[in-house]
Amino acid sequence: MSAIPAKNRKLISWVDEIVKLCRPKAVHWCDGSQKEYDGLCSQMVGSGTFIKLNEEKRPGCFLARSHESDVARVEDRTYICSRNKEDAGPTNNWADPVEMKAKLKAFFKGSMEGRTLYVIPFSMGPLGSPVAKIGIEITDSPYVVANMRIMTRMGREVLDALGENGDFVPCLHSVGAPLKPGQKDVPWPCVPDPKNKYIVHFPEEGAIWSFGSGYGGNALLGKKCLALRIASVLARNEGWMAEHMLILALTSPQGKKYYICAAFPSACGKTNLAMMQPAIPGWTLRCLGDDIAWIRVGEDGRLYAINPEYGFFGVAPGTSRKSNPNALATVTKNSIFTNVALTPDGDIWWEDMGVPVPAKAIDWQGNEWTPECGRKAAHPNSRFTAPAGQCPVIDPEWENPKGVPISAFLFGGRRPSTIPLANEAFNWEHGVFMGAAAGSETTMAALGKAGVLRRDPFAMLPFCGYHMGDYLAHWISMADRTDRKKLPKVFFVNWFRKDASGKWLWPGYGENSRVLKWICERVEGTGRAVKTAIGNLPAPDALDVSGLGMSEADINELLEVDVEGWKRELADTEEFYSKFGNRFPEALKKELEGLKGRLEKA
Ligand code: OXD
Ligand code: MN
Repeated sequence: MSAIPAKNRKLISWVDEIVKLCRPKAVHWCDGSQKEYDGLCSQMVGSGTFIKLNEEKRPGCFLARSHESDVARVEDRTYICSRNKEDAGPTNNWADPVEMKAKLKAFFKGSMEGRTLYVIPFSMGPLGSPVAKIGIEITDSPYVVANMRIMTRMGREVLDALGENGDFVPCLHSVGAPLKPGQKDVPWPCVPDPKNKYIVHFPEEGAIWSFGSGYGGNALLGKKCLALRIASVLARNEGWMAEHMLILALTSPQGKKYYICAAFPSACGKTNLAMMQPAIPGWTLRCLGDDIAWIRVGEDGRLYAINPEYGFFGVAPGTSRKSNPNALATVTKNSIFTNVALTPDGDIWWEDMGVPVPAKAIDWQGNEWTPECGRKAAHPNSRFTAPAGQCPVIDPEWENPKGVPISAFLFGGRRPSTIPLANEAFNWEHGVFMGAAAGSETTMAALGKAGVLRRDPFAMLPFCGYHMGDYLAHWISMADRTDRKKLPKVFFVNWFRKDASGKWLWPGYGENSRVLKWICERVEGTGRAVKTAIGNLPAPDALDVSGLGMSEADINELLEVDVEGWKRELADTEEFYSKFGNRFPEALKKELEGLKGRLEKA
């Protein structure tokens, strides 16, 4: 057992308690050093968890293949265990915290036998920033340790910052696969039975317990569990916001910089937008974060955002030279790939990578693969874990402990019909109404069906740690915390509109910068818009579509108000909101009625 480097009493006694419960064969306090990381990677190469990639092609990179039962976040196994069921709300799974703890304690008992227990001190947000939160993850997975070192600021300095009495969020994780003496380990230990995986949050206590899965947001507990579910509760209590948002900076040809936060449901191209190469000349984009924003009212009354993370955990398939060249440049070194394909020259490949399809490869399950075999080589939710600092367009302000001032909020989703390309809210409440009505066709980031419309307010449905009705009220209340005029403008965008024949109407990718340009012009007060029943839409000719060769009919369709479609939309959202009962804020009821009235007259 290594010497205990911590002085924090609460931490020492918690680790002691967990060691007694989980009975690991060894305890390792992570110092976050390169030496430690390299040692763990070599150990994982030895155990078959990691495959070292070709050092010339992809220096410092590894491939991991998960168990076939453990490939995505498991929302149906994710719980918010507030004391009162009502406080978790209708969109979360709930269980009584005392009962859940008793049940999980039985699972955790001896669950680390034959394994090393790692103590990972990590900071969400720049270390020492007043905005940052410290977490301590206890895990029996070296894969988790390696990923956490990329995704968070992790190691010795965090323990130093914690001091003797500092507070932290305890995050307990076990893959749930103890080893008997002499038992051979498997490359990806986990609990194969989905019914015995548990991702559990205790919001009042501010604690996370995760059992049975080693994958992504189920196991890297700083991300969805701490920085969204637990942080959303802290944010509500403390008057700030923890959001499922990317942060980007757009600079105009005149040199004016606008920071934009955008919320899109999982796998709607957030990472692509966050580091997009603008197609319009003269504009530059810089990235600050691709998934999570913590937002507070700054001293000057504006809202300021920080990215609490330190790396990207992006969906690999579809990441290509066309969709996201900067992500490809980010993952050229020091990255971990999970569930992608391995090429014969020791490199990685995935579907729609925009490079020649290999004549053969080893697929994500370790089987021989050829383009003709009829199977995907990479799992649809395969991932890269890469240091954010390696992104060629990372913004110089990305680690500013105070954050950056936000000019606009964007909401969106995959909506093949009805929702126009861009729409500006009339005011804050209308903007909150737009965010609350967001929805998307489902994809594969979470287990479930793909291709059905799922309402996903603020893209927070799987990530809000309390009653969604209260969360909406919290958004509304931000207007009381500052001068309204200083609040960001709110927009709804939809890159995914299709025509009647099913063809995309908008080219997307770098061309989305044209919409961002209009948004910046609106912030500046120069962009032209027409007031409609649903919001302020770009005026004819206000959107720069020069050189796109789009037909006028297509542009009109992208910017039309489809009154009948909106009436259906309204009925559907109203039904969804009815779930929230008397916790649905009055201000949003008014917005609903207002829109209804305007559509009647349209
Ligand atoms: C993610 C998600 O992995 O939102 O970022 O599912
Ligand atoms: Mn996400």
